[in-house]
This record gives sequence, structure tokens and C-alpha cells, in this order.
Amino acid sequence: MIDQEKIRELIRKALEARQRAYVPYSHFQVGAALLCGDGRIFGGCNIENSSYGAANCAERTAFFRAVYEGERDFAAIAIAGGPEGEDPDICPPCGICRQVMAEFCDLQEFMIILARNENEYETYRLTELLPQAFTPDSLLKR
Ligand code: THU
Repeated sequence: MIDQEKIRELIRKALEARQRAYVPYSHFQVGAALLCGDGRIFGGCNIENSSYGAANCAERTAFFRAVYEGERDFAAIAIAGGPEGEDPDICPPCGICRQVMAEFCDLQEFMIILARNENEYETYRLTELLPQAFTPDSLLKR
């Protein structure tokens, strides 16, 4: 169970991570903070590229950093995004990021926090944002 103080801490870290966004093309800054089962938190920002399709979202930056550091168990992610120079608004994760979440996270348990600020946010379970997910288990069923 994730309490409100932990949610607020995650949102603060997502807002910090958003400052690191490399967005010379979209000027849309996104930050994420990923809470692992062991309590560690990994930040991520979006990182764009002159070959636009090579951009990496904030959420995947956080996941890939964490997996590289040995993490496989995830509890929640906070996300905050919006145009450069503006306050963040509700920024739902893209389809590719939802699929990456489904690779590692329990669909019923993993919590996605979409934040404007520490006090204004929405929470979802992964299954709500990615119903009928294709997961590693899907490969085993026939
Ligand atoms: N982006 C994210 O980082 N996360 C999201 O949840 C949505 C979109 C990034 C990708 C791109 O750098 C910019 O936002 C505009 O699409």
C-alpha cells in the first residue's frame, strides 16, 4: 500500500526529473519517478533526438535505468509533463510506455500517478490504462 506521503515524494521527484528533459524539438518536458519494491526511486526524463523517432519517453528512461541497476519489482510511477515554461498538467503515458510497464509490473497492483503538483493528481492501476494487455504470460498461453 502506498501512502499519501510517498505519493507526494514521488511527485516531487518526478517534477525534479522533468527539469532534466532534453526536448529541443517538442519543447514538451516530462518527468517520471519510479518506485521499486525495495523502496528505491529512479527518476527519468524524456530525451529527444534530431531523428525524431529515436526519442525516449520519461517513463522508459526511468524503467531502463532501474532495470539496468538490477530492479525487477515495481510498485508505482509518478508522471508530470507539459510544455516548457508552463506548469505540468495531467500527462498520461504513451502506448509504448504502457507496454513496457506491462512487461515488468502487476496489472492490478502497479499504480500510475498523473500529477499537476503535489496536491493535484490522479491515480490509476495499470489494468485501467492497458486493458487486455499482452504480457509475458501471453506467450505461454494458447
Ligand atoms: N512523452 C513522454 O516522455 N512521456 C509521455 O507520457 C508522453 C510523451 C514525450 C515524448 C516526446 O519527447 C514529448 O513528450 C512529446 O511527445
